[in-house]
Amino acid sequence: MELKGEAVASPPQQLIPVPVACLREETVTSFNLYLQTRGGQQPVLYREKHLPFTDDDRRRLEEHNIRHLYVDSREEKAYLRYLEKNLGAILGDPELPLEHKTDVVYVSGRFLMREVFADPRAGDTVNRSKAYVQLTYEFLSQEKTAFAQLLRITSYDYYTYTHSINVFVFSITLAQRAGAFSPQELKDFGTGALLHDIGKSLIDPSILNCKGKLTLEQWEEMKRHPVLGCRILDGHSGINAAALEVVRYHHEKVNRSGYPEQCDAKALSPLIRICTIADIFDALTTKRSYKDAVSTFEALKIMKNEMAEQLDADLLQTFIKMMGAP
Ligand SMILES: [Fe+2]
Ligand SMILES: [Fe+2]
Repeated sequence: MELKGEAVASPPQQLIPVPVACLREETVTSFNLYLQTRGGQQPVLYREKHLPFTDDDRRRLEEHNIRHLYVDSREEKAYLRYLEKNLGAILGDPELPLEHKTDVVYVSGRFLMREVFADPRAGDTVNRSKAYVQLTYEFLSQEKTAFAQLLRITSYDYYTYTHSINVFVFSITLAQRAGAFSPQELKDFGTGALLHDIGKSLIDPSILNCKGKLTLEQWEEMKRHPVLGCRILDGHSGINAAALEVVRYHHEKVNRSGYPEQCDAKALSPLIRICTIADIFDALTTKRSYKDAVSTFEALKIMKNEMAEQLDADLLQTFIKMMGAP
């Protein structure tokens, strides 16, 4: 059977590949799907938006060994929203290869965080974050090699939204390995870890993106982000006290050298200490406008040799083992 497609009147400028495996049967997409033909010809419209993707479509594509369709970059947002909405079905599909699933976890999480940081007070911020955390937590719990796979695709360029995903993934995995937490505690914690830097959305971008050393005044402003984050989330029924604590105290240290309160170690729960370790590790291993990234080995060495007094020794040891054998 022939694969039909129509010539496109106004061809897309830039195409983004969509793994066919991530298109759920009988779902209607709100973006056009294109087929890339051989020999550099114009892409053809394969499936117009608002028409369902069917079992037949999948079978025919498989018969032709077509593993990717494409979406116009101008419709990327609709595609990413589709992935987010179908995340549960995608992660639960036993036929889908692990690397596709981890890609979707990363891509849809990054999109979610981009939207959260653009409009942190939007009514559905917390609920979308919770849904993402719940599904990703279950995926990480069931697929024992998912963490190692996610590590491979982790972004080494720093953006607040990719940092949020990285810290969430490191935090939840460390908490699982450290033991002693119930699934519900871990999910609540995961939401706090994902949203730990949400207060940065209220910090002046010129301070966030500053290439040089911050002035004293700028640094004082930056240090407000944990409290601002709590202010954004406080009173939301979907966020519990443990998650709020993670947002407020993720820069506190066990030797009272952190901020904003320089509180006593006793006030820092194991989950807060876990998020602090994950946060520092990700900050060290990603490239920033003012510094290069260091390797995993180098970062762990710095944390062990130069920051040992600031961090929980047992949890740091578990983290080092976890990164050595992900
Ligand atoms: Fe932070
Ligand atoms: Fe952070």
